[in-house]
Amino acid sequence: MNTDHWLESWKQNKIGFHQHEINGYLSSFWKQLNLEGQSRVFVPLCGKSLDLLWLRQQGHHVLGIEISAIAIRDFFVENKLSFNHRQQNDLQIWEADQLTILQDDFFNLTANQLLEVEGVFDRAALVALPIQLRQKYVQHLKNILSKKASILLIAFEYDQSKMEGPPFAVHEAEIHELYGDSYEIKLLLNQEALDNYPSFRSRGLNGLAEKVYLLTPTFK
Ligand SMILES: C[S@@+](CC[C@H](N)C(=O)[O-])C[C@H]1O[C@@H](n2cnc3c(N)ncnc32)[C@H](O)[C@@H]1O
Repeated sequence: MNTDHWLESWKQNKIGFHQHEINGYLSSFWKQLNLEGQSRVFVPLCGKSLDLLWLRQQGHHVLGIEISAIAIRDFFVENKLSFNHRQQNDLQIWEADQLTILQDDFFNLTANQLLEVEGVFDRAALVALPIQLRQKYVQHLKNILSKKASILLIAFEYDQSKMEGPPFAVHEAEIHELYGDSYEIKLLLNQEALDNYPSFRSRGLNGLAEKVYLLTPTFK
């Protein structure tokens, strides 16, 4: 599954993953990262998520990355934000007060662009990717992220033989395989959640757990 799949989804407005409200786990658990209001925070594969706005309301300087120009434009327009759109070399940068979205492939991001990021919110980013890309995604994130940044991560668990991703099932054991060498992994919530996703029931699921993790860096 490459970026063309996502560009096409945005073009055809097939964006069932988009939530029309702030993510409840974000507002409940973000404080566990213990960040100062002004801290810089990062939202990978951000789509047009309203969570960006909630993070900005906490006083954070918010950085997102997203491949689709449609998603980014819709985000600023639908939320009536005055924004500036400019090009820097090959990179498109969209900015509003305390909020920047880079229009690029996540895998092109560099450590310089994530300087001083202290917190990451991953909702529907890791689980949007098939297994080989998940490994690549986490490796790249570890390479570019400041060694002091914590991550709030939401993942789905379900029987992958019953439904094709995305979103993909990413079980707790895999979270430990991916992040366990560099982060302490704390499970904050394990919730049966199929009733919140009726379309997954029609795609074949009869059970779905949503798990929320706090990842705290243990890099030496
Ligand atoms: C499942 S959506 C989740 C969006 C957002 N996190 C949310 O909660 O609504 C995944 C998003 O990642 C974007 N995306 C996928 N692969 C990407 C990549 N390699 N670089 C940047 N964005 C990517 C897609 O365009 C899509 O908007």
